[in-house]
This record gives sequence, C-alpha cells and structure tokens, in this order.
Amino acid sequence: MCGIVGYIGDRDAFPILIKGLHRLEYRGYDSAGVGLIHADKTLSIYKAKGKVSALEQSVENKDTTGTIGIAHTRWATHGEPNETNAHPHFSQSGNLALVHNGIIENYKNIRETLQKYGRVFRSETDTEVLVQLIEYVQETQKCDLFAATQQALKTVIGAYAIAILDKNNPDQIIAARKASPLVIGVNKTENGRTEYFIGSDASPIIEYTNQIIYLQDEEIAVMNRKGKLKITNLDNVKQTPQQQTLQMSLDELEKGGYPHFMLKEIFEQPDAIRTCIRGRLDIVDQDVLLSGILDHKEKFLNARRIIICACGTSWHASLIGKYFIEEAAQIPVEVEYASEFRYRNPVIFPDDVVIAVSQSGETADTLAAIQLAKSKGAFLYGICNVIGSSIARATDSGTYLHVGPEIGVASTKAFTGQVITLSLLGLAIAREKKSLSDEMFHMLVNELQVIPDKMQWTLEHNKDLASFAQMFTYAKNFIYLGRGYNYPVALEGALKLKEISYIHAEGYPAAEMKHGPIALIDEEMPVVVIAPKRGMYEKIVSNIQEIKSRKGRIIAIVTEGDTIVKELADKCFVIPDTRDCFVPLLAVIPMQLLSYHIAIAKGRNVDQPRNLAKSVTVE
Ligand code: AGP
Ligand code: GLU
Repeated sequence: MCGIVGYIGDRDAFPILIKGLHRLEYRGYDSAGVGLIHADKTLSIYKAKGKVSALEQSVENKDTTGTIGIAHTRWATHGEPNETNAHPHFSQSGNLALVHNGIIENYKNIRETLQKYGRVFRSETDTEVLVQLIEYVQETQKCDLFAATQQALKTVIGAYAIAILDKNNPDQIIAARKASPLVIGVNKTENGRTEYFIGSDASPIIEYTNQIIYLQDEEIAVMNRKGKLKITNLDNVKQTPQQQTLQMSLDELEKGGYPHFMLKEIFEQPDAIRTCIRGRLDIVDQDVLLSGILDHKEKFLNARRIIICACGTSWHASLIGKYFIEEAAQIPVEVEYASEFRYRNPVIFPDDVVIAVSQSGETADTLAAIQLAKSKGAFLYGICNVIGSSIARATDSGTYLHVGPEIGVASTKAFTGQVITLSLLGLAIAREKKSLSDEMFHMLVNELQVIPDKMQWTLEHNKDLASFAQMFTYAKNFIYLGRGYNYPVALEGALKLKEISYIHAEGYPAAEMKHGPIALIDEEMPVVVIAPKRGMYEKIVSNIQEIKSRKGRIIAIVTEGDTIVKELADKCFVIPDTRDCFVPLLAVIPMQLLSYHIAIAKGRNVDQPRNLAKSVTVE
C-alpha cells in the first residue's frame, strides 16, 4: 500500500514529487525514493530508508533538477524495508526505472525464468520482476516500451499501480494499474501547454489541478511532454479517458491547527456527521432520502439477507449496523471479516444484498470479498468514504460517507460516519417496508438530527481526558466492556488503544467477563466500561460491581447526571442521553480521546503508528 507520485511538464519535478509523497505518507512510510531525468537526459534515482524527510535530507547535495520524475513511499510486502528494496527499481541496463504499489503474486516464477535468461536481481522485492520483465520483452520482441509493458503485464498475476521512466525516451511517463489505485491529473498551463500529474490518490495533485482521470483496471497510459495522453487496455484497444472535475479542497487535507490529523478528525466529527446526513434526513416530511437505496428499492425489499463485509474499524461499525438494520428493518444481517469470507465458499443467494463497508474503498480483502459475492450473483452496495475508490466503482450502488478525507491511520470520523450511514440505510429500508411504527420512525429521525450537537457536547465536556490519560502510561493491558449496541464500541475502543499506544487491549461483551476474562482483573488492570443509563443499565452496574470487588480500576462512560456508576468508578466520562442505537456515536468519542492522549503521553506517533498503513491494499 505504497504511495506513487509522478510529474511531466515544464516545472521542476522534484518539489512536486516530494510534496506529493508527504501527502501520501499515510499509505506507507518505511522507505522512500525518487527518479528524475535531468536536462542532459541522465537518469538519477535517490532512495532512503525511513520517511520522506529522510529522503529529502539524503539528497541535499545531489542534482534534483529535471522536469520529469516519479516517486514512491513504501509499505513493504516483499523484502525488508531498506534502501535496496526501496523504489524506484532499475531494469538490468539501468535505462528503465519503475515504482509500484501492489503485489506481484507470481513474482517467483517470473524471477526464476528471467534469471535463467541472465537477468541479475538487486532487490528482494516482487516489484523488481516488473521492470526486468518489461525490459526483457522490449529487448527480445524489439518493440517500444508501451507495447512491452502491455505484453509484460499480461503475464503478471496480482495487483499493481505502476509508473515508469525511460532514459532513452526522456519525454514520457508510462503508467498502468490493476486492483491498486492510480489517478492522473491534467492541467493546461498559462502558456497553453499540458502537464500531467500521477498519484495513488488525488491528494498530491489537487494543489495543481482538479481535472482528474481515474485509470481503470488493466489500462495503460502514456503521457508525453507535448501534452499527449494515450490510454489503451492490455490488448492495445484505445480507451476514452473519462476526465472529471474533483471537488476537494487542499484545506481539507491539512491539519487545521491541530497537532495531529487524528485529533483534528476526532474534533471534526460533529461537522463531518452534519455533512454526512445533510440532504438525507428530511425533517419536514420526516423521511430518509438515500438515492442509492431508493433507486434499487426492490433489491432491499426482497432481500433474503444482508451480508456486510469489512475489516478493522469498518467491521466494528458494521456490527452496530447489523443490530440496527435487524431491529429497524427486520432483515437478517450477517457481518463478515472480508479476509475470511473471500477464502471460504460462502453460501450466497441471488436475492442477497452484500454491503462492503470501507473508509478507503481500497481495502484488498473487502474488494475481493465483493468480487466473490458478485460472481455468485449478489447485489452489491458500497459504503465508502473515498470518492471514486475501487470499491465504490465495483459496487452496483452505494452511499458515500462524505466525512472528508481521513488521514490519521487510526480511523475515527469514518467510524461514526459509517454508523450513521448504516443507520440511515436501516431507516430508509424500514420506511419502505413499514417495519417501524410512524412514531418510532419519527423519534429516530429527530434524534439522528441532533446527534452532531450531542457529539459537540461530548467533546466539550471531556476536556480533562488529556491529564487523566497520563495516569495510564504504566498499563500493559486494558479491558473494554459494553453490552448490546455498545459491545462493538468496546471492540473499537480496544483497537484504537492497541493501534496507537501499542498497549494490549481486549474488548468483550460485559456479561462474558465471568466466563473467563475476569481472571485477568487485579489492581493493575484498567477496565473501560460503557454504562449509559439505558437498556441494560442495571446489568452493566452488576458487571462493574464484579470488577470492583476484584480491585480493577474502572473508567466508565456514563450518561450525564448518572450517580450510581459514579460511586463505583475511579473515573467517569459523560455523554448526553440518546436512544440506545445511537449511544455508540457518542460513547466512542471519549474512547478515541483516551487512546489518543495515552499514546501522546507515551510519545507515540499517533498519525503513523508502527507497522500500519492507512489503506491496506495488499492481503
Ligand atoms: C482503523 O483504525 C484501522 N487502521 C483499520 O482497522 C481499518 O479500519 C481497516 O484497515 C479497514 O480499512 P477501510 O475502512 O479503509 O476498508
Ligand atoms: N510489493 C511492493 C514492495 O514490497 C509494493 C508494496 C505495496 O504496494 O505495499 O515493495
């Protein structure tokens, strides 16, 4: 899940490439590299282990001139993260340089075959086979680079987004993709010339142009200095580029005054959710307007079941969605880990609706899961945040979260956006099915409308979390407990803590404690309990008492005005009262903040935690 940037035009390429890499660093950051063709037609490759800043330092006294270049920030899949394995990779002759995002699954076979023909490999990556193979085809079939790339990619199994420079052809960049994203930006400059940008997403491009072309699977593009762009498929059939105008401001991508993207994104939630529900909740006519559902009403009304496929935080949000859709729309819902689902032989009926929930829309397992469901005839619905992402394009219909770009690796506003969107979906189906009474429907719609204000209240009333979190830097383990709608929130709280503070944490349904995990409780063990004054309040109070009598340290999330839990807990964080089904939207906020502040107190890099990347576009 690396980040790729490219540029060809009249400007200096290096600053554009470096800036672009910084914007894409969320996709991977264990090494970085850049390839530039200088005015004298020489090709330089510079690489460094670590972040983009390390690359910048390493080139301080080097020649970084040139108006054409490609660059890469890596998240290693094959070969350890070191300078040799960093991209770009050279071909045997040193004439070609290539960057790659994805995995070449048959790389071993290709490598061994090429070795037999005398090709010498320098790195341990799967990527290097691409550039060596392309050159091999070019030399043996005596064709140009474009044709050689088409031919070579036909023999490749796996996922790729690539960009290639050729020293012998210093006025062009070749790009191609299959199952990994690649975007081309097109800009007409003041002097009437056309320059091209390449990015794994639009963030490195948007500063220069909002004219975007999403390269499709198995398409290959060549851009040259004269402003020409040609796109074909691997069989050399010309494709018509679909140029779009992207509505995304650069401001949205910046930190907006917060020290970290994660904190900014936590605080953005009230506004993000307002945007997410805007135009979808009709308070006057008391209706839910989701065009993705309304256009395919019959599919949902006749659905035998709904299967939701997702990973990580999106999986947790999906569990909450399951509870809501079953309760409101009375349709059975199964929630599957996409990575498990895709490798089983699941029973899927043509009248099943399969929903993919994914912030990035690029998660390889989720994409593969829906492709499997599609092959079995299911109707596919996507709930994604990233517009134009692979999952959004692979599904028959869908709803975007519209919570804005999420840059922090730990997902926050996407989670609440997903819970809201799944709730809207449940309500829209319930409206059509008449499975909820008018009174209940109106109550839920009116409550959803005020959730952003209640989120704001929650953020404002939990300001002492930062100092409180300091007390927990000692902890090696945490337990998170919740019941009903709040059980998935406990899972999400535990995941947030693990990801960014590296403290081990487990989430459980509170009543499961007595079946084993309670043995872990001692005076060292912090236990976070979601205990709103709602549904199973008395039950959860008993669970808290069980922990208390074993000397556990209780951190509780309670409804404003609660007195009973306050007596028992070491510390309480308050949320306003809301319907059971919407408590997760509020209860998750103190959990996000707790993880953030513990991680900061431990000196962790919260936006780029170790071993993780924002979108997992590999298996
Ligand atoms: C969340 O904090 C994670 N970093 C991770 O679990 C994430 O939710 C998961 O990889 C799924 O990503 P997606 O929503 O982009 O598909
Ligand atoms: N497989 C390539 C490598 O290990 C690219 C990895 C990726 O896209 O995450 O370098």
